[in-house]
Amino acid sequence: MSAARPAVAADAAAVEAVWTAVASEGEWIGTELPLHPGWRDRFLTALTGPDAAWFVVDRGGQVVGAVFVQAERGVGHLGMAIIEGHRGAGLGRALLDAAVEWARRGGCHKVTLEVWPHNLRARRLYTRAGFVEEGHLERHYRRKSGALWDSVVMSLILDEDSPGRP
Ligand SMILES: CC(C)(COP(=O)(O)OP(=O)(O)OC[C@H]1O[C@@H](n2cnc3c(N)ncnc32)[C@H](O)[C@@H]1OP(=O)(O)O)[C@@H](O)C(=O)NCCC(=O)NCCS
Repeated sequence: MSAARPAVAADAAAVEAVWTAVASEGEWIGTELPLHPGWRDRFLTALTGPDAAWFVVDRGGQVVGAVFVQAERGVGHLGMAIIEGHRGAGLGRALLDAAVEWARRGGCHKVTLEVWPHNLRARRLYTRAGFVEEGHLERHYRRKSGALWDSVVMSLILDEDSPGRP
């Protein structure tokens, strides 16, 4: 099984192609086409700063999946996508583990993400990795079709030791 590796600038076109392909399915990720014109610049900026990271998985020398994690106030916000034909082979778990480890090493106390309720495969992946459902956002996201989609918030707490509010 391929391990995830940190993305480099030379991966920009390949990662953009992955995001475009998965977005074009219109079913799994929040992004809808066309990608934002600044998408590639944001990807490249994320590689250089301390607050974000991308990891990719290769198969046969081709990038087939990617995950980003963006840290904000100690919470890592995560998103991932694997192109059709390479799903169901453990690549999702490899990407997820790399992103969570990056957040842990960076001192994040929590990792969070949102997933469409119908995305049972993704929900299963996150649950198996220890994420729990924290909330259900009803009629929250306006899609380009005009429809309002619900979203499930899932999180993994990394810091169980700091005190909460007494
Ligand atoms: C979601 C995604 C990242 C998961 O990665 P993956 O490598 O394909 O993961 P797997 O196919 O191994 O599935 C993960 C788990 O879901 C289970 N699963 C697969 N298909 C399923 C289905 N239709 N319904 C329920 N569970 C399913 C698998 O059995 C596995 O569970 P297990 O470890 O207990 O066996 C990947 O499929 C993907 O990129 N999909 C499109 C984009 C997307 O959904 N991104 C996430 C947005 S929140």
